[in-house]
This record gives sequence, C-alpha cells and structure tokens, in this order.
Amino acid sequence: MLRLRRRPPADIFPADPWALEETRFGPEVQDFLGQAETMFALANGHLGLRGTLDEGAPVREPGVYLNGFHILRAITYGEHAYGFPRVGQSLVNPPDATPMRLHVGSEPFRLDRADLTHFSRRLDMRAGLLERRVAWRLPTGQRLALRTLRLVSLEDRNLAAIGWELSAEDAAADITLHSDLLMRPPLPVDPVDPRLGEPISARRLLVPTGQAVQGLRAILSHEAFGSGLVLACGMDHVIEEPGRLVAETEFREDCATVLLRGQVAPGRPLRLWKALAYHYDVAGTPAEELRTRAGHTLDHAMGQGMEALVGRQRLHAASFWDRADIEVVDSGPHRQQVIRWNLFQLLQASAHAEGHGIGARGLTGRSYEGHYFWDTEIYVLPFLVYSNPPMARSVLMFRYRMLDKARDRARELGHRGACFPWRTIDGREASAYYAAGTAQYHINADIAFAIRKYVEVTGDSVFLYDHGAEILVETARLWRDLGFFSARHEGRFCINGVTGPDEYNTVVDNNLFTNLMARENLRYAADTAEAMARDQPAAFAELVRRTGLAPEEPAGWREAAARMYLPWDERLRIHPQDDSFLDKEPWDFANTPADRYPLLLHYHPLNLYRAQVIKQADTVLALFLLGEHFTDAETKRNFDYYDPLTTHDSSLSVCIQAIVAAEIGYLSKALEYFEFAAAMDISDLGGNVVHGAHIASIGGTWMALVHGFGGLRDHGGRICFDPRLPAPWRSLRFPLTIRGQRLRVEVRHDVTSYRLEVGEKLVVFHAGAEVVLTAAEPLAIRDTPAARPEPVPEFPPAAMPAG
Ligand code: BGC
Repeated sequence: MLRLRRRPPADIFPADPWALEETRFGPEVQDFLGQAETMFALANGHLGLRGTLDEGAPVREPGVYLNGFHILRAITYGEHAYGFPRVGQSLVNPPDATPMRLHVGSEPFRLDRADLTHFSRRLDMRAGLLERRVAWRLPTGQRLALRTLRLVSLEDRNLAAIGWELSAEDAAADITLHSDLLMRPPLPVDPVDPRLGEPISARRLLVPTGQAVQGLRAILSHEAFGSGLVLACGMDHVIEEPGRLVAETEFREDCATVLLRGQVAPGRPLRLWKALAYHYDVAGTPAEELRTRAGHTLDHAMGQGMEALVGRQRLHAASFWDRADIEVVDSGPHRQQVIRWNLFQLLQASAHAEGHGIGARGLTGRSYEGHYFWDTEIYVLPFLVYSNPPMARSVLMFRYRMLDKARDRARELGHRGACFPWRTIDGREASAYYAAGTAQYHINADIAFAIRKYVEVTGDSVFLYDHGAEILVETARLWRDLGFFSARHEGRFCINGVTGPDEYNTVVDNNLFTNLMARENLRYAADTAEAMARDQPAAFAELVRRTGLAPEEPAGWREAAARMYLPWDERLRIHPQDDSFLDKEPWDFANTPADRYPLLLHYHPLNLYRAQVIKQADTVLALFLLGEHFTDAETKRNFDYYDPLTTHDSSLSVCIQAIVAAEIGYLSKALEYFEFAAAMDISDLGGNVVHGAHIASIGGTWMALVHGFGGLRDHGGRICFDPRLPAPWRSLRFPLTIRGQRLRVEVRHDVTSYRLEVGEKLVVFHAGAEVVLTAAEPLAIRDTPAARPEPVPEFPPAAMPAG
C-alpha cells in the first residue's frame, strides 16, 4: 500500500553523497520553491532559517524559528466541554534577518525575473554550510555573478551568518544592497488541513519594545503576545573594503534596513558578511538585557570573522559525522545522499535543543505549530541516546520540568499522578481535538519508555534517581488510576476510553499498544522504586518527599501490570488492536482512489472510526518496541494482518513497518518501506514538505537502518544484533555510543564486524551469542546463512479487505 504521489525531477538534485544540490532555477523548478525552502533549511536545534532565497523573494513560506518561542491564543470551539484546553500555543516567527535585496541601477535583482546564466545551490552537509552561486546577464549584456554562503552556527546557538560576494565580468555596475531585518506577515492558513493549526488573527503577535541602532548594526526587541516571552534579534555587517560602499541605516519600530550603495567593477568583487543574532527569554526579562545579549553575540561573531565561523562550523559538523554517520554501499547513487540528508536533519533539529523539546517539524516549517509530541521520545530519542547522550538527557529533563503542569492536568481530568500533554510547547495541553489528542494517554508510557532506554543504554542512573523516578511514579499512578480490574474480563486490568497511536480508531477500550506500554511503565516504576528503597536510601527518601509515595503503591502497580488485559482473538490468533477493532467493517480500499489519501482530508472522522483502516503503525509499533513479549510467529502473524490495513497517512508509519518487516524476513518489503521513509521529504511523498520536514520519520529512518537492517535490539539494556542486509546492498556501517564507549558495526552479507573505537570492553550479542569486545581486538563474525527465501504472509488475500 505504498502510494508515491509526487517526485521532483531527478536531475534537480544530482547524486552527491555529501551534498544536496539544486542546479537549475526556472519556471518549472519554481513549483519546488516551497519544498526547497524546507530541503535547504538550516538550523541548530535552537534557531532555524528556512531555505528562502537570499533576496527574500520570490518566496513561498518564509520563516525564522526559535525553538519554543511562542505566542498564546484562545482556542475557539463551536461547542465547549469540560477539560478542553482553552489556551493554544503557536510558534511565531521573529523578524527575518536573511533578506539581502540587491538592486542593479534601479532594477531589483530577482531570480525569477533575471536572465540567469548559472544557478546552483548546494547544501554541504559535511560542513553544515549552504552555498549559492548565480550568474546573470543584464539587458545591456553586462554580466554579474553573486555568491552567498549561509550558516546557522552549530557552536553558538544564537548566531547565524551570511557571506555575500558580488562580481562584475565586463563593466562596472552601480548597485544598492538592502540588508533587512523585517517582520513578515502571518502565513495564510489552509482551512482544510488541520495539521497547519488554527488561523492566527491579524492582531499583533509581536509587540515592539525598543531598538538599538548603531552604524551597520540594528537590534530590535519584541514581546510575544500572550506568553510575554521577550525577544531581541539583531544584525551587523562587515564590509571587506568599507570605503567602496556608502552606508545608511533606516529603521522603524519593528524593522530595520542597512542600505549599502557603491560600484562593483571587473576584477574588484564586493565582499561583505552579515551576522544574525536571536535571543529570547521568559516574560519579565528586561528588553534591554535581551538587546545587550544580542549585541554580545554580534560582537563575538564580528571578533571572529566569517572565515573563522566557517572553520568552526566545519569542525562541529565533522564531530557530528564521526558520531553519527551511516554508510550504505550499494548500487544506487542517490541513497547515501538521502540517508545523510536525514541524519543532517537530526543534527539540525537537536544540536542545541537544550532546555527545549524537539518539534514535530524541527525548526524547518510551520506545520503543527512547533508543538512537541511523542515523536521526540519514540522516534528521535533512540538516535540521541546512541549518538548524543547529553542531548537525550536534556530532552528528558525538558519533560521533567513540565511534570508539575502534568500533575495539574491529571487533577483537571480527575486522575491521580501526572498526565503529560499530547501536544505542547509550554507544558500545557494544546490539543483542541481530544479524540486524537488528550485521549492519547500512551504518551505517558512513551516518556517512561524513553527514560528506561536512556538509562539502560547510557548507564546514567543518577538521572534516574534524581529525576526519572519521579516521572515514573507519577505516570504509574496515572495508569493505576485510569484502568480498573474488570469483572467482565475475569478481573483483568482494563484501560478504556483511550486512543493508541492510530488516529483512525479513537477513544477505544484496551488498545493493545497502550496496555502493553502501560504495563512496562507500571513495572519499571515498581522496579525503580524498590531498587532505590534498597540501594539508594537518600535518593529514595527524596523521592518519597517529592511524590508522597506510599509503601504499598509499588505492589499495586505490579498487580495491575501482572493482570493487564491484552486483547487476543483465538480465531485469527492475533492481538486485536483494541476491543472493537475486529468487529468493524473492513475499509473498502479497492474503491478508494489514490487522490483521497490521506483519508483524514477527505472523510469525516466517523467514517474512519467505524472501519478497519489504520493511519499508522500501532500494534506493529508494539511488535518492535516490546518485541521481547512476542514470539517470532506472533510477530509475523500480527504484522501480516495489520500491514495491509495501514494507509501510512502519518509519516510515523513506514519506518516502523520497515523494522518489523526486516525482523520477519520480508526484506524486499522492508527495503521498500525504508526507501519510502528515507525519501519522505526529499521526494515530498506526503505532498506537504513545504510546511516542514517530518522529524519523526527522519528519526525513524535512522531506526530503520540501525534497528531494522542492523537488527539492534536493546530490551533490558542488553545490546543484541541480528543483522539482515537487503539483497541489493553490499554493506551497512554505523557507529553507536553505548555507556560512554563507541562501537562501530559493519554488516555485510557474509560477515558482521564489531570494532570498539572508544572504550575498553563491551559485551554485546550477535544472533543470540555473547560477544566480548575489547579495544585491542575488532571482531568479525562470519554469517553464512543459506539464502533465506522470504516467508509467505499468513493471511490469504481473500481474508483481507479488497485493495
Ligand atoms: C500523527 C501523530 C504525530 C503527529 C505529529 C500525526 O499525524 O498521527 O502520531 O505525533 O502527527 O507528528
């Protein structure tokens, strides 16, 4: 059921393992303007600039994003009900300091109007730099060339920089450059697509609070509507030969322009660079202080110079690739490029996310209003745990800091413990549609699951004792309170009225995924509390003080876990996704035209909710995350049943199907799903990449490589590999950071090698057998499996819905 909707012409992005390059700019390519703004976005986890053209126009969805910088607005409901969140949160664009508008004579230079003789835009992923070169002819025949270089600093999270160099080929030209810091109007909202968020009224989203302008520098400060967050953003310029340009700075209360006038002559290019600084802080911080901080960032950048900034950028990017690069050797020239683009997005979404979460679109677009979802814990955190443990910890600390608000939300909903928001920026629930929002209680277990993974893979038990345990106690309490021992199910512990990951079957009873994840949460909380009581009396006393944990509570959690109800269908010998799923009418796939996907944009929710049709991996996700609880036969049978019912209308789906398909041995299918996940954004397979990159799918692409084909499983902290390389690939190589050590794994068809690059000793398992790795000795394990035929699905197509 893979539906490829759109593909860009292949020659726009020629194959290059380390770069993404656009080599033409013409009317046909302009359709890709918005897509390219996402593809060429630069970010560092704190500050993001969409890949808009340097001149600022033409433009589809301009955007500068600061992680967590948001406004508050009232959520309007046609009909209100108790407990619906009333206040929405939306990421808001600070002023855009990227535009550098060039006029030659009195004519503006715009790519869509110029007589271009050359265009190339190259995202150098190895270096973290975006370079654009254009050359054009004026109506007089005179030729000019412009080279720009952009970076969003991987070192200083508040800084970006743009290098600018203009040359004339045959005669001198008078030019004016307008370097802007400007407020863009809010983007229009599509009333049909709920993923874009609520329309924001025309009221002022950012209220100006002052400026500081001096020479070629301008700094503006603002306050965000509702949240009161205080912002300062600034720009400054360094001109290589200042005497050649006459400068003038204009400003109004919320925009500023540095105007530079001069002449470019053959053999004498004009060179300058611009530093961009963005700072924000909590309500009440004096605006002046923020402007001073922006000034410091600019001073510091100016003190270094563009070349030094570029040099430092290269070093930071290199250290990322050393920790995180994945290489696939095969016959397809584009694959390595696509994989690296995905990995690069993970760097861009997380490098400096400290203090914040990771939004569903990172900092590349406006979709989902910059909200944090479970995407972070289940789809991005695995990558961070294995490549950047301090950032994994930071992301979990961000959840810890919202624990009090989660406690309040639980009280509001009449629960004990804590109930984390389905989507949020500031810690409060911001989901206006409870059926596919608040009802997704599984987010609480997802956070607990992520804590466990982090602690087991990194060995950071201090985090567990000081912070994680408190979240575990409160989430275990929530589950114990939410479920009950049902007489109708022989006293089993049932959890009713929840939505699992699949948003096409909402507010159901006993969603298998939720019950299994809740069971893990309950057990892990009990294990942790009991271990702390035994081995960490001081930390345990503090935990009791903070949570009021009663001595009998862990036993209550264990009982609920032990008697957790897990739906089972004896006739099909599968786990129903929930109590009612198998009673529903099969969806008529055969008569659903391809242009009606994603179904959520074409069918009333009720039509979806009453059918056996799945938006995204749900039971199949449980088969992966909690694989130790399923036999091989169960995994296969459940996958066989659910796979054809899954539309993948969410980008969080195909990566998971790829992992489980690989485990079962459906390697061609796994490869197909993987290709789909990896190309999700580069080929705009969802048709909405204009609104931002799908960070969960990107994290899922990493998972599909490492957990899918690399066969890594880490249940209970035991690092096990069972690699399965797709037939067309020759090898797969990836590094993993495990308990402070660095392991490099290389999978080939007949041999898997393990090398401990950093560290003394590490025990892993290969195909079930223990392997002791030491620094001195890399190990190569010969696997000579007889070419395994792919298994046959268990359910004959006739038993499945048509399609
Ligand atoms: C998915 C959710 C996801 C959200 C943000 C939705 O389409 O169904 O699982 O958390 O997108 O990525």
